Amino acid sequence: ERLLAPSGPLAGRHVIVTSGPTHEPIDPVRYIANRSSGKQGHAIAKAAAEAGAHVTLISGPVTLPDPTGVTVVHVESARAMLEAVEKALPADIGIFAAAVADWRVANAGEQKIKKKDGALPNLSLTENPDILATVSHRTDNRPPLMVGFAAETEQVVEHAKQKLARKGCDLIVANDVSAETGVMGGDSNTVHLVTASDVETWPTLSKTDVAKKLVERLGAMVGSGKS
Ligand code: CTP
Ligand code: CA
Repeated sequence: ERLLAPSGPLAGRHVIVTSGPTHEPIDPVRYIANRSSGKQGHAIAKAAAEAGAHVTLISGPVTLPDPTGVTVVHVESARAMLEAVEKALPADIGIFAAAVADWRVANAGEQKIKKKDGALPNLSLTENPDILATVSHRTDNRPPLMVGFAAETEQVVEHAKQKLARKGCDLIVANDVSAETGVMGGDSNTVHLVTASDVETWPTLSKTDVAKKLVERLGAMVGSGKS
């Protein structure tokens, strides 16, 4: 039982956060994945909860513990992640930090694929739904503030501006994920906040501090008090 109403810049708000990679099955024992650790998304979920929000964290497979004070939904694939996000609507803010696999195997095996005298399996790929774009372009229940991430290895801000327009979100947090930056799996991040009218570059910060600063900013954007 809650005796005190939550306080903080996001009090009374519902925030949906996606985090981590997705796993796309090749067969029952193999999958396609990526190097996302979920550290940035999970830190955002925690910071939003500490700012008073009711947080639904939709997480792909990660080794991190569930943040306390957050409702966590565990999923494996991109399609399951989209379904979980839509089920969690409506929300005041959507923050899509997951590194969703762009492709899945169209002809995934129902049984383990066996080696056959050196013959290679033919895996055909098909594109996954774009969760951020799908939710941003909804005509009903679109969260009023939609935040995407952009993982880039070159022309970071330029690519982020294109993503902002293409995906129809309100803010993109762009980060350079080149191997030498150590962002994927690491503890710090250098981000650029890209809106339709502005680009703001933050200094390199711990992922925890990026999360706190971002939540503070989102609190200011949605204003105080639930309308
Ligand atoms: N995203 C998503 N669903 C996907 C792919 C991406 O929701 N199927 C979201 C990510 O969570 C992130 C944003 O879209 O917030 C950008 O992801 P990114 O991988 O950088 O962009 P893509 O559009 O997939 O383009 P590319 O990987 O080709 O750069
Ligand atoms: Ca992608």
